[in-house]
Amino acid sequence: MSPYAHITGWGTAIPERVLTNAELAKMVDTTDEWIVSRTGIRERRIASEEQTSASLAAEAALEALQVAGLKPADVDLIIVSTSSPEHVFPATACLVQDRIGANNAGAFDLSAACSGFIFGLHLASQSIRTGDIRNAVVIGTETLSRFVNWQDRNTCILFGDGAGAFVLQAADEPAGILTGVMRSDGSGADLLSLPAGGSRHPISQKVIDAGLQFIQMNGREVFRFAARVMNQATEEVIQKAGLKLDDIQWIIPHQANLRIIEAAARGLKFPMERCVVNLDRYGNTSTASIPLATVEAIQDGRLKAGDQVVFVGFGAGLTWGAVLVKWSGPFATRRQKIYPAYIRFLARLRSVLLRVLRRLDAAIWGRVSHIDE
Ligand code: ACO
Repeated sequence: MSPYAHITGWGTAIPERVLTNAELAKMVDTTDEWIVSRTGIRERRIASEEQTSASLAAEAALEALQVAGLKPADVDLIIVSTSSPEHVFPATACLVQDRIGANNAGAFDLSAACSGFIFGLHLASQSIRTGDIRNAVVIGTETLSRFVNWQDRNTCILFGDGAGAFVLQAADEPAGILTGVMRSDGSGADLLSLPAGGSRHPISQKVIDAGLQFIQMNGREVFRFAARVMNQATEEVIQKAGLKLDDIQWIIPHQANLRIIEAAARGLKFPMERCVVNLDRYGNTSTASIPLATVEAIQDGRLKAGDQVVFVGFGAGLTWGAVLVKWSGPFATRRQKIYPAYIRFLARLRSVLLRVLRRLDAAIWGRVSHIDE
């Protein structure tokens, strides 16, 4: 029998700095009233200069491993979903792997914008279900504040920074991630994009003068698309799992706009009280929004073992998707004590030693190591 991928750990990293609508109203021509009535957002978090997508991701991952009671060395796979990676390459996931000392893990980034966390969960769960791996960490992390044009009122009011992580572990009991759907439509690629910095528009003065280093968005079109696909993906994943909407206790949607979530709930005839919403305090944290909302629902006691939950999202690409989860929580046995500060220290030491060893190797054998240059 193929094992199921249970979600046994969760963690978040939320920057301290709060940016309110009142502050934004001093930066661009907008008001708190406009932002709240059109989006539901009241404030968002902004990463400090020292915080990056990798540092937030590593913090969330360590917290998730602590909840699961799983050592970094036991992790087989790290998927980092992000639209604000540290670099074009190497993958932010590799930087996270190094920061948490997950010495046995393969690590890669997944670019599916706000749907990325859902795509990551689905892929990691498939790897567990085939028996290929036993333990995975899926992380959604964003520092989109670095890519927002703070003079563009159409976009700067929407986005916030943060990270969330889940640990997935193999177990025979039929629960955890039951099924998922992933969809894309590249014909809508221009509706939401960050054009600069890739091979199409390498950074140049001309590109910067055109403002292509900032998020570009056709809000109305994205809104229309989102309202349509949220229901479609939710219905599809429920059907694929052989369930009915009545079997679902919670919908945890991507937190882009309260009106989109309300429209989806209305369309599905699903009560708003059972949709988890926290975008009023974090804005749209893109791929981090679903784990951030989930962890809040766990911590305030809403989400309980045995609940059946749909995670559903949409984003640039265009992409959309959903996963259906029978919530279980950490394993009662097989848990180990994890001390994040200790792991952080050992991982740093390991990383430094590996760099030194590579240099020594090059010095002794006369080979040049390009990796650290
Ligand atoms: N303050 C005041 N007025 C504003 C602001 C603002 N911050 N922003 C836009 N306006 C103005 C517009 O200029 C426009 O004025 P006009 O009629 O004179 O041209 C008017 O308000 C109405 O603009 P709309 O775009 O029609 O406003 P709408 O009600 O659609 O709300 C919004 C705009 C909030 C952006 C909405 O379209 C939306 O949420 N779209 C979805 C965006 C989204 O979810 N993006 C993320 C996707 S996930 C990912 O992959 C990152």
